[in-house]
Amino acid sequence: MTTKTSKEVRLGATGPTVRRIGLGAMGMSGMYGAADDAESTATIHAALDSGVNLIDTGDFYGAGHNEMLIGRAITERPREDVVLSVKFGALRGPGGTWGGVDNRPEALRNFLGYSLQRLGVDYVDIYRPARLDPNVPIEDTVGAIAELIEAGYVRHIGLSEVGVETIRRAAAVHPISDLQIEYSLISRGIEAEILPVCRELGIGITAYGVLSRGLLSDSIRPGTTFEANDFRAHSPRFQGENLDRNLELVRALGEIASRRDVSVAQLAIAWALTRGDDIVPVIGARKRTRWSETASALDISLTAGELSAIESAVPAERVAGERYATAQMAMLDSER
Ligand SMILES: NC(=O)c1ccc[n+]([C@@H]2O[C@H](COP(=O)([O-])OP(=O)(O)OC[C@H]3O[C@@H](n4cnc5c(N)ncnc54)[C@H](OP(=O)(O)O)[C@@H]3O)[C@@H](O)[C@H]2O)c1
Repeated sequence: MTTKTSKEVRLGATGPTVRRIGLGAMGMSGMYGAADDAESTATIHAALDSGVNLIDTGDFYGAGHNEMLIGRAITERPREDVVLSVKFGALRGPGGTWGGVDNRPEALRNFLGYSLQRLGVDYVDIYRPARLDPNVPIEDTVGAIAELIEAGYVRHIGLSEVGVETIRRAAAVHPISDLQIEYSLISRGIEAEILPVCRELGIGITAYGVLSRGLLSDSIRPGTTFEANDFRAHSPRFQGENLDRNLELVRALGEIASRRDVSVAQLAIAWALTRGDDIVPVIGARKRTRWSETASALDISLTAGELSAIESAVPAERVAGERYATAQMAMLDSER
């Protein structure tokens, strides 16, 4: 038996229809070191030309840079060809400092006003708080986005990195299209409780970190170091011995990938696509070459035997290091 991937799905019971893979634009604004705007723009165009419509951003990616880049890239495209997913709430200072989270209704109305200007659009498709604000009940945040839907500025409400209690409370206020959360061969935490609750409530999953920030690919070598402003310079899974141990798992995956004549990244994406039609991987890329490799994963079918070989190659207990550094883990409602 082999798995067959549908090319389009509805996000949750009430969300927009999207291609089975989305483009994550975060890396285009410095999160993984320097990026080139012209190549980033060409990557967005390549993704849209290949039929991908979901583009994920955050107003805090490059403190507005990411939204302006996307806004310029889609200016000539019919608005309905793009599903814009925008996160808000994370506060930035000059020089890229991080300053906590603000999900108050008056703050998010302000954030959205600026996002619409930067993106050059009059509505966003999915609007979501990037993290739970411990000082603001989720009901207030979701209720305020629901008012923006009424006013025509937003189409759907999404969530990000929240746990089951918050998901239930949010969904009681307004239908939720999708939860954006890390999910990959080496980050399977959602399978125990979060995924079943989302399925019960008709909430889709937009999975990020499917390549574990590039770790699940052929591109990271033992001893690879990163620029200080690259997320991976501080990510536990990319440090010293942890990296060495994790690369052993990647090597085991590489053997399976080469038997199928695909790359490790393609195998990791193809695996995620088999986890359910309600899971849409949002893959980060800032170069066309990367994107074309990513997009080809849609055509890979895996047999039951290959799936079990893949899962045995990367047992969860052998993954070294948490998915975020300690201070960032503490901000994840999904990890409580
Ligand atoms: N809600 C949240 O809390 C949250 C958190 C993080 C990210 N996100 C969203 O999810 C998106 C995806 O997540 P992500 O970018 O962190 O993780 P990811 O997709 O696991 O990894 C992206 C990294 O993988 C590399 N890559 C992509 N294709 C590759 C290939 N074929 N071979 C080798 N390397 C490859 C990229 O390299 P290049 O950069 O060189 O192309 C990039 O460094 C983000 O862009 C963002 O929109 C959401």
